[in-house]
Amino acid sequence: MPRKVETTILKVDQKIDTKKIRTAAKAIQEGKLVAFPTETVYGLGANALEEKAVSRIFEAKGRPADNPLIVHIAEEDSVNILAKHVPENAGKLMEKFWPGPMTLIMPRSDLVPGVTTANLDTVAIRMPSHPVARALIEEANLPIAAPSANLSGMPSPTSARHVLDDLSGRIEVVIDGGKTGYGVESTVIDLSESIPTILRPGPLPVEELSKILGEVKISSIARAETPEEISEAKSPGMKHEHYSPKSEVLVVEGTPKRVISKIQEMATKYDREEKKVGILATEETAEKYEVGTVKVVGKRRKPETVAENLFRILREFDDEGIDIILAEGLETAGIGLAIMNRLRKAAGYNIVRVA
Ligand code: TXA
Ligand code: MG
Repeated sequence: MPRKVETTILKVDQKIDTKKIRTAAKAIQEGKLVAFPTETVYGLGANALEEKAVSRIFEAKGRPADNPLIVHIAEEDSVNILAKHVPENAGKLMEKFWPGPMTLIMPRSDLVPGVTTANLDTVAIRMPSHPVARALIEEANLPIAAPSANLSGMPSPTSARHVLDDLSGRIEVVIDGGKTGYGVESTVIDLSESIPTILRPGPLPVEELSKILGEVKISSIARAETPEEISEAKSPGMKHEHYSPKSEVLVVEGTPKRVISKIQEMATKYDREEKKVGILATEETAEKYEVGTVKVVGKRRKPETVAENLFRILREFDDEGIDIILAEGLETAGIGLAIMNRLRKAAGYNIVRVA
C-alpha cells in the first residue's frame, strides 16, 4: 500500500480555469501525481523524464513494472526529443490523426528513463486532443507519462468519480473535467518494425489506418479471441491488462437473435442457482430479457455509444454486487474491434459462440 496522501479535486468546465491548470502543472513539475481527462479515458500523469515520479505511478496503480507507459505531448517537436529516430510512416500519421486517440511506438531516446518504458528500447507517444490534457502538458512544459487512471486490473476510468473510487488517497490531484469522449483507450501502433502493427485497437479504426499506411498488421493480441493468443503478445503489458471488473464476465457472440436466446437461457439457469445476474444489453435488445439486472450500454446501430458507456456499466455491475455479467457480443467493424477486444479481455476470454 503506497504512502497515504491528500487528494485535491480541481473541477474545470468548458471555460478552463487557468489557475487550476497552473496548480496541477506545478504538481507535475514537483514530481507529484495528477489524474486528468483525455478524449479517451482519464490518465494518471507524472513527469515522464523523472524516474522517481514515474515509479510512483506504478506504486499508486499497483501496476506491474514490466508494463510500459504512454508519454503524452502537446507539440510535434517533442517527438524528436523522445524518439531516437522518427520512423518513416510516423509523419503522415501524426499529420492526419494528432492530436487524437492514436499512440505511436518508436525507438526510444536516451532521455526517457527506463522505468517509463519498462526498459524496452521503444517508447509510446501520444498527443491528446482534450483541451484540459493539452493545457496541462503545455503549462507543465514537460512530457507526461500517463497510463489509464484506474487501479491495475480495473476497467479504465471515464469520469473523475471512477478515478477517485480507485485512487483517492494515493495521488495528489484529480482534475475533474467531466465525462471523457470515446470511452476506450487509444489505438496503439508499433512503428518500430518494418510493417506497422496494431498492438491495441482503439477509437481510430484499422480501416482508417490502412488507407494511410497500406499494409497494416493486427497483432494476435488485438484480435485476441483465446488465452493462447495472448501469450504470443509482443508488449509485456498487453497480457497483464484485464480490464476486468470483480464480477465474472461471459461474452456471448453470434447473430443478435441467437445471442438473446442464449443469454436468456443462461440467465435463467444462474438465477435458479441464486446468482445475481447482470445483462449487458443494447438499446435494440434490452426489452427481450426477463430475468436479471439489464443495463443498456448503447445502440448496436451506433457502436461509438457502446464504447462511451462500456467501462462505466462494468463498474456499475460491480458496485451492485452482481455475481455474473452476461454480455452481448457486437460486430468487430470500426470501433467495434476495440469494444470486443475490451469485452473479451474483461471476460478472461470466456466466450460463448452461438454461430
Ligand atoms: O487512451 C490512452 O491510451 C490512455 C490515455 C490516458 O492516454 N492511456 C492508456 O495507457 O490507456 P495504459 O498504460 O493503460 O495503456 C498503454 C498500453 C499498454 O497496453 C502498454 O503495454 C502499451 O500501451 N505500451 C506502452 N508502451 C509500449 C511500448 N514501448 N511497446 C509496446 N507497447 C507499449
Ligand atoms: Mg490501462
